[in-house]
Amino acid sequence: MYVAQPIEWTDRGVVMLDQRRLPAEESYCTYTDYHEVAKAIREMVIRGAPAIGVAAAMGAALGVQYSSAKSVEALRGEFAEICETLAKTRPTAVDLFWALERMKRRFGHLTEKTSDLAKIKLGMAEEAQRIHLEKRATDEAIGRFGAEFMPREGQVMTQCNAGALATAGIGSALGVIRVAFEQGRKLHVLVPETRPYLQGARLTAWELHKGGIPLTLITDNMVGHFLKSGKVGAVVTGADRIAANGDTANKIGTYQIAVLAKENKVPFYIAAPISTFDLSLPDGEHIPIEERSAAEVTHLKGLRIAPDVPAANPAFDVTPARYIVAIFTERGVARAPYKESLRALAEVPQQHVASRV
Ligand code: MRU
Repeated sequence: MYVAQPIEWTDRGVVMLDQRRLPAEESYCTYTDYHEVAKAIREMVIRGAPAIGVAAAMGAALGVQYSSAKSVEALRGEFAEICETLAKTRPTAVDLFWALERMKRRFGHLTEKTSDLAKIKLGMAEEAQRIHLEKRATDEAIGRFGAEFMPREGQVMTQCNAGALATAGIGSALGVIRVAFEQGRKLHVLVPETRPYLQGARLTAWELHKGGIPLTLITDNMVGHFLKSGKVGAVVTGADRIAANGDTANKIGTYQIAVLAKENKVPFYIAAPISTFDLSLPDGEHIPIEERSAAEVTHLKGLRIAPDVPAANPAFDVTPARYIVAIFTERGVARAPYKESLRALAEVPQQHVASRV
């Protein structure tokens, strides 16, 4: 089945599928400068929490690879600046900071063991590619755990785009749907368009259609109507950051879907990697919410659709844990009380972060 490739490390540089141009055009951008990677993340060439993490890791590796530093000391100074630039791109998705922390750890190990700059550059490139590779395995495991919770047949709903485009694997929420579909479950996906940036209409509809998974595109204000119909068997969305108590930040609109799902007795699930946990935050009140440009609300493809008035554009909202029936991760399924279940999953030893020179 078709799996989109939003990002790739190549000899020419970091190649990204330009998601701003989908579905009209499949065009690619190649970056050799980490500043350009930071701009690409900020401007949504690549988006979706885990994919942003992969992009940040590759940006960090690119910065090291193209550095003209002549000593480890000079490179260390530059590397701090590289990480700071990448960290300032988007505030909500914690995968970005997770990936940068991992790249910093690797840089530390490498520079402790060698002062050979070529070796350090190679080691950083390898680490970024390893993070990318792991995403696929992570998504597949999430998909296997989550698929069990999908109905044998009928409608399921998602929000935004939590597919391959958003994770650089097979997708988190869409990965669950994909695995369930491949197991023979006869699913039909309801895709809210996800105003204002239209990740549902432009990206999820494109991915599902290319993958041959049946779907119906709906506008965001149809969500309640469909959840009340008695025909939706489950809702599954991704996450940008999950606090210690299970409160979950995801694309704006997710909260109202979760409330309406509970009201209509439709189970609401989150599918997300452990890298999306932020157990340092006690609850969702502490999650920073990105405010994007008002022009994304007042304009569509450059065309003004509202008068010149103030417009709000919080890119994410927080769904309180009480609306979430279960959280699917690569290490298993967390259920309430999330404070204990999330910590238990996070504490499983991570062999994959073991470092080598
Ligand atoms: O603003 P975006 O497009 O980066 O927001 C993406 C989402 O909210 C996704 O649902 C989330 O990152 C989970 S992706 C697997």
